[in-house]
Amino acid sequence: MNSKDLFSPLQLGPSTLTNRIVMAPMTRNRAAEGNIPQEMNRLYYEQRASAGLIITEGAQISPQGAGYPFTPGIYNDEQILGWKKITAAVHQKGGHIFIQLWHVGRISHPSLQPDNALPVAPSAIKPDGDAFTYNGPQPFVEPHALEISEINNIVDDYQQATRHALNAGFDGVEIHAANGYLIDQFLRNGSNNRTDEYGGPPENRSRFLLQVLAAVTSVCDSQRVGIRLSPLNSFNSMRDSDPMTLFSYVVQQLKPLKLAYLHVLEGSMSPLPEGDEIFDYKKLAALYDGIYMANHGYDRQSADEAIKSGTADLVSFGIPYIANPDLVERFKADAPLNAPDQASFYGGDETGYTDYPFLSS
Ligand SMILES: Cc1cc2nc3c(=O)[nH]c(=O)nc-3n(C[C@H](O)[C@H](O)[C@H](O)COP(=O)(O)O)c2cc1C
Repeated sequence: MNSKDLFSPLQLGPSTLTNRIVMAPMTRNRAAEGNIPQEMNRLYYEQRASAGLIITEGAQISPQGAGYPFTPGIYNDEQILGWKKITAAVHQKGGHIFIQLWHVGRISHPSLQPDNALPVAPSAIKPDGDAFTYNGPQPFVEPHALEISEINNIVDDYQQATRHALNAGFDGVEIHAANGYLIDQFLRNGSNNRTDEYGGPPENRSRFLLQVLAAVTSVCDSQRVGIRLSPLNSFNSMRDSDPMTLFSYVVQQLKPLKLAYLHVLEGSMSPLPEGDEIFDYKKLAALYDGIYMANHGYDRQSADEAIKSGTADLVSFGIPYIANPDLVERFKADAPLNAPDQASFYGGDETGYTDYPFLSS
């Protein structure tokens, strides 16, 4: 008999998670100057430590990887020190925490780049819309198409960031290959029209991702490396002409790597053009033989059903975790949830960050 539910433990590589409820990665733009994790970030994560697993907000692997103000990095000693306090606080409370490794690629702006350089991308294709800069919204620019030697340097940056993450006490790393950032820009052909071995068929467009995973798993047990994909998410001007073929290929390649998990954003954060909404996530999950983490619009009931039916092994929650530090306890008690305040999602101080009430208060 299959009796697992949302509150059943799960063995994730060397980590024993106490439940299947995961805090999804969420950028909150509240790092200190220099993109250094600070005290209020420690409190925020510590408050949410009853999650089976916390995945941090995207953390840039290098100064070039940044695309927004006040997002934390994982490329220098001060940042590592800031993260150490966070991992220690979460572990002290019995929780587990992975860091999401991030390079935004073209979703940046010269004012956020070292020496005001152009943001980088697989191809010189400008996304629609504005970058968020320290001086407010600024139109995106046409990015610099990466040379092969530059691609190799970024692969090295992922490897170095992974070493730093282990040094900072993380239980693992999540490779951010979703939501229209650099790895996803290579994967999908709306942002990649290269004619070399990094462009064209899915095999070539997956090359960068697989190189990154090889570099990362050469310094970190693969059972401590997760990956996030978002096959349909149109956020950041993203599109692929045949997402099912592309992502089926990607998932087949992931299988032999024996990663900690595959995390899929099963939807879109921006509206999809008509006809683009169809994607068989169950089929994708079935192609994978490891731990599958589902995300996007789940609530207590739908998440519990996904676990009970075996469609997912873990479910991650984004917005519910912004407003409910004790989401696990609330789900257990079937208690009402606090409503999130959208205005304080990105940037600001403790308000709308660490001041949401707990059930017990
Ligand atoms: C404020 C905010 C920031 C986010 N930042 C990230 C991020 O840094 N990395 C990422 O992969 N997804 C990010 N996301 C997407 C969430 O991880 C999640 O996929 C999305 O909120 C859908 O899940 P939900 O319906 O449970 O909220 C963000 C979402 C929100 C609302």
